[in-house]
Amino acid sequence: MFKVAVIGASGLLGRALVDELAQQTGWQVVATAFSRLAPGTVALDIRDAQAVEQFVEREAPDALVIAAAERRPDVCEHDPALARALNVDAVRTLAAAANRRGAWTLSISTDYVFDGTHPPYQHDSAPAPLNAYGRSKLEGERALTESTDLGCVLRLPLLYGPIVSWAESAVTSLVPAIAASATPDGKPAVMDAWAIRYPTFTPDVAFVIRQMLERHARGDAIRGIVQWSGGEPMNKYEIALRLAEALQVGAHLTPQHTPTDATPRPHNCHLASSRLEALGIGRRTPFDTAIRQVLAVFPWRGAE
Ligand SMILES: NC(=O)c1ccc[n+]([C@@H]2O[C@H](COP(=O)([O-])OP(=O)(O)OC[C@H]3O[C@@H](n4cnc5c(N)ncnc54)[C@H](OP(=O)(O)O)[C@@H]3O)[C@@H](O)[C@H]2O)c1
Repeated sequence: MFKVAVIGASGLLGRALVDELAQQTGWQVVATAFSRLAPGTVALDIRDAQAVEQFVEREAPDALVIAAAERRPDVCEHDPALARALNVDAVRTLAAAANRRGAWTLSISTDYVFDGTHPPYQHDSAPAPLNAYGRSKLEGERALTESTDLGCVLRLPLLYGPIVSWAESAVTSLVPAIAASATPDGKPAVMDAWAIRYPTFTPDVAFVIRQMLERHARGDAIRGIVQWSGGEPMNKYEIALRLAEALQVGAHLTPQHTPTDATPRPHNCHLASSRLEALGIGRRTPFDTAIRQVLAVFPWRGAE
């Protein structure tokens, strides 16, 4: 039996990962959550070092995937202590505990470790984060490598996938404004047309992580830093146009060509996925197909 612990199984990525791994015969999945506990999920506050150590000792996983984090840039900016506790210190504690048991740790990081001025970025390009979120995730990457020789960082860009609320993903969070703009007295929705993103489907990432776990199960664990990205560049205005088409609404959208965010964000952090591709790892569902799958199972009427 190959045992995988998914830390942060209640989140956008964690849920997709648990769904993917549950299909593997001969694998056992231990899922943890913090505030959103589903039946069968283990309660774990990753800021509690003793609880983390006891969890790893008790469950003795072969691999541990850290999908728990504080990933909202504005929250990280205003609460750097929380960002550090989740994105840096907890990674160190989890990876050190896993290392003591000889378990492989996969920690999820972000394209925001780069400043977005010179894409595409390779796994060994020089990081230069622009905001507190990116800085905390970069420190988390370093905490992982300092804490274990049996660890890997997987950097990802903007994620979308099956949701439990529109706000869960920066892709689907556009839907309420799109829907409101399509009502008879709706005002045009202003959408950022400056930053270039590569929306990446969480079931595809889960598939990639499963392939990575399979390599570890075969005794051929991937170490160091790897990156995975969807293949279609889009700004939010273009994402909104494609969402409106999928929703079949006549939205009124206005492109905003200069950045307006309070928290600085990079322009284009395209992540090269070549290290994983060279290992035969990867899957990219076309955006228009994937977003229709997401919208089909989440009722949007009334989003406005
Ligand atoms: N979303 C994106 O667009 C994006 C882009 C690039 C990289 N990433 C990275 O991908 C990873 C997954 O992100 P996500 O979007 O799936 O995040 P998410 O939906 O915000 O989920 C966060 C997870 O962290 C858990 N968590 C929060 N505080 C915790 C605590 N004190 N102890 C234990 N668990 C705690 C949450 O548990 P509860 O819900 O149960 O409280 C939840 O499972 C993160 O490392 C993120 O930085 C995300």
